[in-house]
Amino acid sequence: MRSFFKWLGIGLGSLVGLILLAGLGATIKANIQLNKTYSIEVEKIIIPVDAASIARGKQWVASGDCIHCHGSDLAGTAFLVDPLIGAIPARNLTPGLGGAGREFTDADWVRAIRHGINPEGRSLIIMPSNDFYHFSDRDLGDIIAYLKALPPVDKEWPEPKFAPFGKILVGAGAFGSVLEAENINHSAARASVPVEGPTVAYGEYLVEVNGCRMCHGEELTGVKNPPNPAAPAVPGLVAGSEVAFWSEADFIRTLRTGTSPSGHLLTEFMPWKQFRNLSDDQLKAIWLYLRSRSTQ
Ligand code: HEC
Ligand code: HEC
Repeated sequence: MRSFFKWLGIGLGSLVGLILLAGLGATIKANIQLNKTYSIEVEKIIIPVDAASIARGKQWVASGDCIHCHGSDLAGTAFLVDPLIGAIPARNLTPGLGGAGREFTDADWVRAIRHGINPEGRSLIIMPSNDFYHFSDRDLGDIIAYLKALPPVDKEWPEPKFAPFGKILVGAGAFGSVLEAENINHSAARASVPVEGPTVAYGEYLVEVNGCRMCHGEELTGVKNPPNPAAPAVPGLVAGSEVAFWSEADFIRTLRTGTSPSGHLLTEFMPWKQFRNLSDDQLKAIWLYLRSRSTQ
């Protein structure tokens, strides 16, 4: 009996040792990943300064998901604060103290938004640039023009910091890569941008750049256990989902009012308060694209 406990003790001891070793390995891996710098060719985009382009950029920001993370004044939010995982603020984008607009060159803006890399060459964390990679030069140029013209707000955020357990998760790749630069094929050809209007092709473009795939899954089939444990399960939007039975009017009403046909009020995890600012034609285009994916 005594020898049984002895062996059990040795067994448990080695198990704990193995777990510690795996944790150490993951931490070392995370440190290497987090310290990696990236040097990429940034496309030259002319950033317009005329009022019409700035107004177009404003409309993109008002109807997209930047505000969801960077706040309604775009001066940043604490975004993720978790004693186990760490603190990852979404930064200040305005020209105020501590804001990107105060120090970024035009190339810095393009590198950050399109490639997920900051001016020091570090990968941005959680910032969904792999969706924004698809923005056309014109649309991205207008967005940057608007960000540069924002009223300054002074707000300084610390650098992102992972807690020890958070580092283990990063090293183990628990949520895929949180280092956005790793999620992007930086030399991939950008698909030619479809003409604006209520078409399936323009709807697909809007789904890419508005981050629908980030939350609803790459194939838009939904996500049962989202990385944020506080978030509800994310429903699918294509064949096999409830949405596939909706009419166009149901879809537009849901995105405009946040209430689905079954009377369910969508939580703030779905950024409908921004998407309700999409134009009628844009919502129709998204619907046509989802529809095309519902009848396959
Ligand atoms: C899911 C949340 C999220 C969304 C949506 C989002 N961001 Fe970010 N963004 C972040 C986080 C978090 C950081 C900070 C990452 C870091 O420091 O590693 C960041 C960083 C940035 C930076 C770099 C700033 C700096 O000082 O280094 C820029 C520029 C930026 N975001 C622009 C945008 C724009 C423009 C949009 C909308 C088109 C947008 N973001 C949407 C989370 C988000
Ligand atoms: C930041 C994450 C996030 C993004 C980005 C996002 N969604 Fe959602 N969406 C959710 C969540 C979470 C729910 C479920 C909300 C609830 O049940 O309270 C949801 C629900 C919905 C619903 C209701 C479905 C149903 O069965 O009731 C529709 C429709 C929808 N989203 C469409 C979209 C479209 C279109 C886009 C892109 C333009 C998009 N979502 C982008 C997180 C997101």
